[in-house]
Amino acid sequence: MSNQDKLIIFDTTLRDGEQSPGASMTSDEKVRIAKALERMKVDVIEAGFPIASPGDFEAVHSVAETIKDSIICGLARALDKDIDRAGEALKPANASRIHTFIATSPIHMKMKLRMEPDQVVEQAVRAVKRARQYTDDVEFSPEDAGRSDIDFLCRVLEAVIDAGATTVNIPDTVGYNLPHQFGDLIKQLIERVPNSDKAVFSVHCHNDLGLAVSNSLLAVLNGARQVECTINGLGERAGNAALEEVVMAIRTRQDMFSCDTDLDATQIVTCSRLVSNITGFPVQPNKSIVGINAFAHESGIHQDGVLKSRETYEIMRAEDVGWSANRMVMGKHSGRNAFKTRMAELGVEFSSEEDLNDAFARFKALADKKHEIFDEDLQALVTESRLESENEVYKLVALKVCSETGETPSSTITLSMEGKEHSSSATGGGPVDASYKAIEAIVKSQTELQLYSVNSITSGTDSQGEVTVRLEQAGHIVNGQGSDTDIVVASVKAYINALNKITRPRDREHPQSGDV
Ligand code: KIV
Ligand code: ZN
Repeated sequence: MSNQDKLIIFDTTLRDGEQSPGASMTSDEKVRIAKALERMKVDVIEAGFPIASPGDFEAVHSVAETIKDSIICGLARALDKDIDRAGEALKPANASRIHTFIATSPIHMKMKLRMEPDQVVEQAVRAVKRARQYTDDVEFSPEDAGRSDIDFLCRVLEAVIDAGATTVNIPDTVGYNLPHQFGDLIKQLIERVPNSDKAVFSVHCHNDLGLAVSNSLLAVLNGARQVECTINGLGERAGNAALEEVVMAIRTRQDMFSCDTDLDATQIVTCSRLVSNITGFPVQPNKSIVGINAFAHESGIHQDGVLKSRETYEIMRAEDVGWSANRMVMGKHSGRNAFKTRMAELGVEFSSEEDLNDAFARFKALADKKHEIFDEDLQALVTESRLESENEVYKLVALKVCSETGETPSSTITLSMEGKEHSSSATGGGPVDASYKAIEAIVKSQTELQLYSVNSITSGTDSQGEVTVRLEQAGHIVNGQGSDTDIVVASVKAYINALNKITRPRDREHPQSGDV
């Protein structure tokens, strides 16, 4: 594959993906996702918007410290203070990129920025030059390019490339464009911007009309060599182009594309699950590539065809994107070494012997309750132990629930709070409802439960239930997770995990807010 034929995959799950209402992630969660993206060989990871809050700064800084093989990018409006903050957050990175942007559409310039076009060009150039003081790798985006005047776009792009932008990203910020139109826009920009050969052309498409992936692919066919995308298509409003769909479309239709990515597609399903689990955004069963039914054949005619020759109805192989039959890897007699080896194969590293011992002890406890231990169970174990080590104010000490036909379910909970134990009992519509009321009687968090979802990690009635809850408190939203073979216990763990997260204060600024 020649240089020109490489398609750069820029993942913005940790930045635009996190802008999905309710998808906020802690710094530790971002690092875990970043490691999975690095393992998948994503070229650029946009880790966040450092000026937004101290928490966002810290998350970008931690990702920059941890990741070695991918370029780490931080977002900054075209403002000195944003760029300086991004430069600071990215300092520990092996390779860093600053992504700066300013809106260029008439409606954004007039109504949001209240700036004249000349001022916008001047500010864009100034921002790129400032970003170049921190890194040679600078990306510029004319926000709402999809609704901008093409002559003005050419003028801005020429100026920022002259100022040192090495990537120019064309966002369809509001998901307004149609594929043929967006493809043509990219073609014309590359043809008309005199110094277009000095920068990589990138695209960033939103999915408001369900066209984000199609628009991105048309852009690639017309010369774009970077696509910005997110795992599971997460992102602001209807989301961004789904990474897994873009990558697999290009790989499956190599007859149509003169480029390919370096991505290790076998990591896609693991990444998708991790992001879904952390954000609490479930993957719909019929979602392309990563939905549970994406490779399932129901009709007898299809099944017959696939049995005779799989290509009759399959354009991709499930194993190429990381689907494997649930592998029973271990049971209660497996040793610590076998456990560590299998975890390493799943991409899980332990930072200390203590971490490994803790996870192994959990594995043994689970193996006592559950006959067959699958890869998914092992991954949940790690999530579980990391969740417990996170900033724990509240800890579950004991839980007793009573559920009987004809009787009102009740629950008695004991929590430890800063070393002291507190107990409470409550009744409710079901054992989970009663348990949450009992917890609330102790904690008095005054949070609003926005989401409660249960998934079984594997099949079978002894499967672990994986619960996600979303809590809101005065506009601050967090997701909590918990897993256990007992779904009431899993539910209680998820609720406590969310309460532990919501105790952290966090004032955030939105990247597309209008003060520039
Ligand atoms: O959608 C958008 O325009 C963005 C920019 C910051 C690139 O997310
Ligand atoms: Zn966006």
